[in-house]
Amino acid sequence: MNVLGIESSCDECSVAVVRDGRTILSHIIYSQIEDHARYGGVVPEIASRKHTEWILPLFREACKEAAIDPARDIDAIAVTTEPGLSGSLLVGLGFAKGLSVATGRPLIAVDHILAHLYAPRIEGDLAPPYLGLLVSGGHTIVCRVDGWNAMTVLGTTTDDACGEAFDKIAKHFGFGYPGGLAVDRLAARGDPYAYDFPESRLDSPQQRYDVSYSGLKTAVVAQRERFRRPNAEESAENIAASFQRVAIDTVMRRLQRAISDTGIRRVAIAGGVAANSYLRKRAGELTVDELHIPSMELCTDNAAMIAGIGFEYANAGRFAELDVPVNARVRGYRRVGRGGGW
Ligand code: KG4
Ligand code: ZN
Repeated sequence: MNVLGIESSCDECSVAVVRDGRTILSHIIYSQIEDHARYGGVVPEIASRKHTEWILPLFREACKEAAIDPARDIDAIAVTTEPGLSGSLLVGLGFAKGLSVATGRPLIAVDHILAHLYAPRIEGDLAPPYLGLLVSGGHTIVCRVDGWNAMTVLGTTTDDACGEAFDKIAKHFGFGYPGGLAVDRLAARGDPYAYDFPESRLDSPQQRYDVSYSGLKTAVVAQRERFRRPNAEESAENIAASFQRVAIDTVMRRLQRAISDTGIRRVAIAGGVAANSYLRKRAGELTVDELHIPSMELCTDNAAMIAGIGFEYANAGRFAELDVPVNARVRGYRRVGRGGGW
């Protein structure tokens, strides 16, 4: 079964054709990084306009590269409908609806968060239940994936998302845009112990898996001197490396705690920050039987993960009506840990 995937929830416009959820026939990603760089962050109005410009050429290119005739060889159309920037989501969804009408093929609505958590499945043998860590610019979620359309949230962030903290630190110090990659590159030449920045410690039973980045951010931006180790040099590299160590350790410690508490030793890590080199190193120290982290291209926003999970929904007969709306906000997933632990 060929599923066409469309992703336009933020600043990546992407179209992919994936066969049977696993074989990527074509995968095109147009990143708008250049379009937003001078503003130091994603400008929603620019994002939706760029999606409008790019969606048709990317669709044509994806069909050409996959050597398929869209009128004949697409079995279903999967598209991100939530969460994300409304204007951007609407471009992808409007295009998908038009295509569905034109080809007579069914439409599949995909939740972007669940798709990120599915991404490792494209390359490995991953099946629910498993523990998931989603770390991106918009989300920080420790969860149990119960099925391809069901997850239980164990913990989230009480303020910034993990990638957002990277982006804000990079913006403050002028490290470059996008921030995560800039910090990662600088950190490679720095001493991660030059500064002893504080790690958030939310230890109440209600927040066993939650994280917070406001304290770390303040320490790095405004109280740096207090945390500098004797004889450590003040440098961009040292700041980046020390910040990165604590920012990543914060989430990895919560994930390890969830593994220990639940006894679930199959784990997937996804989202843009999963591309971080220190995170990938630390992941090797988790006490797991199975660890799944997608390749770089499938960590950040992409349409292959949308087509992949779309295949599972098509098999389950979970199709969307043509009037399906977009939803900017994160869906109300089941949540444990509040007032009772696991
Ligand atoms: O998954 P993604 O492409 O978009 C969202 O759904 O948010 O994630 C983008 C985020 C950005 O905050 C970016 O700075 C971060 O992922 N990121 C990284 C790295 N590469 C991307 N953060 C840390 N280290 C990296 N190497
Ligand atoms: Zn994403």
